Amino acid sequence: MENIEKGELITTGKAKSLYHSNQQDYLVMHYRDDTSAFDGKKIESLEGKGTINNKFNAFIMNYLEKEGIQTHFVDLLNDTDSLVKKLDMAPVECVVRNVAAGSICKRLGLEEGIDLNPPTFEFFYKDDELGDPMINEYHIRSFGWASEEQVKQMQIKTFEVNEALKKLFSDAGMILVDYKLEFGDFQGTLLLGDEFTPDGCRVWDEETREKLDKDRFRQGLGDVVESYQIMAKRLGVI
Ligand code: ADP
Ligand code: TMP
Ligand code: ASP
Repeated sequence: MENIEKGELITTGKAKSLYHSNQQDYLVMHYRDDTSAFDGKKIESLEGKGTINNKFNAFIMNYLEKEGIQTHFVDLLNDTDSLVKKLDMAPVECVVRNVAAGSICKRLGLEEGIDLNPPTFEFFYKDDELGDPMINEYHIRSFGWASEEQVKQMQIKTFEVNEALKKLFSDAGMILVDYKLEFGDFQGTLLLGDEFTPDGCRVWDEETREKLDKDRFRQGLGDVVESYQIMAKRLGVI
C-alpha cells in the first residue's frame, strides 16, 4: 500500500498508540518505549524498545503469514510504526504455556521450569483494573465477548502459532516458554492482532536458561532492551 499517512490518535495503551490512517479499515500502530508490567503498576521508558518491538513483531507476523496463519499486519512504515488492519478486538487474551512460569506457578504452587506436556492454554479477560483475571470459554460466551466459533478459532490458531514459533525459537537456541495473543474480527474473518514481541512472551536461552524477555523488567534483572536485541539477532530480525 502506498502513500500511507498517519491520521488522528484513536487510543493510547500501555505500550502502543493507535492512529487512524488515510486508508479506511487500516490503522497505524505506533510502538512506544513505554514499558509496563503488573497491569500498569510498574512503568518505565526504555530507550529503543519501541523500535526493536516494532521490527520484532513485523518479522514474526510475516513468518506466521508464511506458515498460513492470517494476521492484521500489513507493512512496516518506519522504525516505530506499522500499518495494520483495523480489527474489532475480542477483549480476551489467549495464553499458551510450554513451560511453567509466571502466574501459573503462583496459582498452582509449581516450581518455575517444569515442562508442560501437552502445552496448556488459558484465557484471560483484558481488564487492567481487575488485574486481567483468568476466565474460561463459558465466561466468554455468557458475557458475549466472542462467539462460540471465535472461541474455537482462537484456541486452534493460538496452538498453530505455538507449533510454528516453538521451532523458530528452538532452531535459534531458545525456548519459547509462554506467550499471549489477541484476536479480532476483520470483515467476518478472525485475525491475529496486537503484537508478538518480547513484551508478551517468555523466552529463555536453551543452554543457560537465561531470561531474554520482559521478565527482566518485571524482576528488575536489567539489560531489558539489550536482551530483546539478543533475541532479535538470534532470530535474524536485525
Ligand atoms: P494495552 O491495551 O494492553 O495497554 P497496548 O498499549 O499494546 O495495550 O495497546 C494496543 C491496543 O490496541 C490494545 O488495546 C489492543 O487490544 C488494540 N489492538 C491491537 N491490534 C489492533 C487492531 N488491529 N485493531 C484495533 N485494535 C487493536
Ligand atoms: P502470566 O504468567 O503473567 O499469566 O503470563 C503468561 C504470558 O502471557 C507471559 O509471557 C506474559 C503474557 N501476558 C501478557 O503479555 N499480558 C497479559 O496481560 C497476560 C495475562 C499475559
Ligand atoms: N497483565 C500484565 C500487564 O499487562 C502482564 C505483564 O506483567 O506484562 O502489565
